This record gives sequence, structure tokens and C-alpha cells, in this order.
Amino acid sequence: MTDDVDVTDCRRCSELCASRSRIVNGVGPTDADLLFVGEAPGETEDEVGEPFVGRSGDVLDEGLRDRGLSRRDIRITNCVRCRPPDNRDPTAEERSNCRPYLDAEIAAVDPDVVVALGKVPAEHLLDRSVAVTEAAGAIYDARIDGTARRVLVCVHPAATLYDPSQREQFDAALDAAVGFLDDSAGGQSRLG
Ligand code: URA
Repeated sequence: MTDDVDVTDCRRCSELCASRSRIVNGVGPTDADLLFVGEAPGETEDEVGEPFVGRSGDVLDEGLRDRGLSRRDIRITNCVRCRPPDNRDPTAEERSNCRPYLDAEIAAVDPDVVVALGKVPAEHLLDRSVAVTEAAGAIYDARIDGTARRVLVCVHPAATLYDPSQREQFDAALDAAVGFLDDSAGGQSRLG
């Protein structure tokens, strides 16, 4: 089924086509209860062809491991599947070009909760501005491609590397995600 949501070729963004080595598709079970969505592949992800396998991925793996989970228990993908030049943020146009692939992946996985890793995915999925540090751990009701979804906002793992004080919010959000696995009625719901 993964093949159905894997993108094998795409030329919608001329700049990203030139900067990428490969398209980085989502990984993990396609029936996962938690779908983590990051921003875009970085240098290591572009080399390896898998999301979150660089330093940010180490932080995420460690956070999952501390809670008795591994990346085999969750699915991980990104707003855009190609590495932007110099690791800049993907533009609104690039995110919009890649959106059908993300929507198709969310629909196929049909997770209990979509975990937005950082500001770019949080704002992309919720279609509003989000102060991530304050919102971390909260679950928002969202409509994604016509379907009601729950989006949990999390601090981006990389943010904990350059600002260790953000670790607390990152941990709180991961706790909320895992708590949601334990109790599907759990989590703090806010209207989006
Ligand atoms: N940061 C992201 O947002 N996504 C990745 O895949 C890696 C780092």
C-alpha cells in the first residue's frame, strides 16, 4: 500500500527539482495511529532518502525510545518531499505543489492524530498562524482535504538542539501524543 502514497517522479517545483538528489517519501506503517509531519528533507535525508535520519531524527528517535516506542510504531513524512536549497523553508507555493501528496498520505494512513513537527507543518495543516512553543502538546480540530482530523502541535526536534529550553515543550507534546495512543479520548481539544 505504501507504493500508493510514494511519489516516484515530480517536476512541479523547478528549484527543488534542481536542488534535490532524490524524492524523500514517508516511512513507517501505513496503518499507524500517529503520523508525524515535518517540514522538508535536510541534507542527510536527501542523501539517505528517508525523513528524519539526521540530527533531528536522533532527537525524535530518542524521544520515542524514552516512551517505549520506535519509528516502526509511527509514520513520518514531510510537508514537501524534496530538499530546498541551503535547507531554507519550503515556500508556500512549494508546499501547495506538494500538498496533494501529503493529503493522499494522510487519507491512506488515516491516523488518530497528525503530529505537526514545528511551525511550518503546524501552520500548513491548520491554515492559521501558530505560536508553537505555547501550542505544543495541544490538539486542534482541523479539516484536511474535507475530512475532520486531529492535529497535535509539537516543537520541531531541531529546535531542542539550538534552544535546549524547548526540550520541555517537545517532551510535553510527545507525552500528549503517546497519551493519545493510550486513551483515544485524551488530549486537550481546541476548536481550530
Ligand atoms: N527536518 C524536517 O522537518 N524533516 C526532515 O525530514 C528532517 C529534518
